[in-house]
Amino acid sequence: MRSFFKTKTAIALALSVAAGTATAEDVEVLHWWTSGGEAAALNVLKQDLEGQGIGWTDMPVAGGGGEQAMTVLRARVTAGNAPTAVQGLGFDIIDWADQGSLANLNDVAAAEGWDDVVPAALQQFAKVNGEWVSAPVNVHSTNWVWANKAVLDANGIAMPETWDDFVAAMDTLSAAGITPIAHGGQAWQEATVFDSVVMSVLGPDGYKAAFIDLDADVLGSDGMKEAFDRMSVIRANVDDNFSGRDWNLATAMVINGDAGFQMMGDWAKGEFINAGKVPGEDFLCFRFPGTSEQVTFNADQFMMFDQGGAVSAEQAALATAILSPSFQSAFNVVKGSVPARTDVSNEAFDACGKKGMADLAAAASSGNLFGSMAHGHANPASVKNAIYDVVTAHFNGEYDSETAVQELVDAVDIAK
Ligand code: BGC
Repeated sequence: MRSFFKTKTAIALALSVAAGTATAEDVEVLHWWTSGGEAAALNVLKQDLEGQGIGWTDMPVAGGGGEQAMTVLRARVTAGNAPTAVQGLGFDIIDWADQGSLANLNDVAAAEGWDDVVPAALQQFAKVNGEWVSAPVNVHSTNWVWANKAVLDANGIAMPETWDDFVAAMDTLSAAGITPIAHGGQAWQEATVFDSVVMSVLGPDGYKAAFIDLDADVLGSDGMKEAFDRMSVIRANVDDNFSGRDWNLATAMVINGDAGFQMMGDWAKGEFINAGKVPGEDFLCFRFPGTSEQVTFNADQFMMFDQGGAVSAEQAALATAILSPSFQSAFNVVKGSVPARTDVSNEAFDACGKKGMADLAAAASSGNLFGSMAHGHANPASVKNAIYDVVTAHFNGEYDSETAVQELVDAVDIAK
């Protein structure tokens, strides 16, 4: 028998009953939110739970994009010691559900009406075979560019609208002795940039055909070669110390005026906000040139690992807290993402957050919303990692663009 909880009051009651008869357990939360902005957002969740008398055991695993966290998770599950709740993305959630590792959240979802307020794009990863298996926290998107406004103004650069504008802006910064692009040389970061570049060259149909349908003709097309050529242009505009740099340190380069632009998901905004910067005054957010109508999204969710029986009272309370409209607003304002519910007001959000919410709604209704390849929302980890390997090898000069295209076709074919 699964959870009996029907309302928040009932959950609170059950918790106090549980507390009277046995020690209420802490939740142990495995996540990769370790940068300044991410930690500030996580704190919103910790405090929410603490307010309900639920203890928090933190299990941070550093590493943007979550690859390291997933490795630790696999080891913990294999050892029969799964954490209570785990940050997860897209196809990874489906994999864990298919393996029978996740608790069924249907009762919480029904009591809280998740079916009506969580958009379909997220439900495809949160609900597996009709069972809610994770609680969506947010919606991020990857096709953003972040710019230092003072640097752009000082160099007479307007917000680039086309790839040619963007190249001209990079040239101007280079000539002025400023690093045009802040980049961290890690495979997931290169893949994040590639999401935008492929969307800009191949358009929404091409992005879908290449990354979601894994169509060999499109993966091997001239357009894909052009996308790799653009990656080479970007590579030529990063500084010499990019290898291995964490994404938030690259963001700091833009915040400090040491670089002009960073292509990164909107978790980067959390770093600007955490540094006290204001959109429109200190920094600019805009969609990667050529992708103004598209959104390549990823959504953080918390999977509740089956602890041997029904979902626990603490897991139910965590899931309920995550989906509450007030938490969705408070958390996402800090995190840089937008709410995972369609009924949350944009009032508390800054200009970039409001734009993020409007872009997401518009893209969803015009058929321009696609799962991010780089962040596990286009295909399972095996395919994602195969694409990472090729993109990163090309970025580091191991392949020219033509070879990269052929390697991409072959690697995807083997992995799928
Ligand atoms: C997650 C974000 C996180 C980013 C960098 C992404 O995969 O969805 O929540 O901030 O990685 O760590």
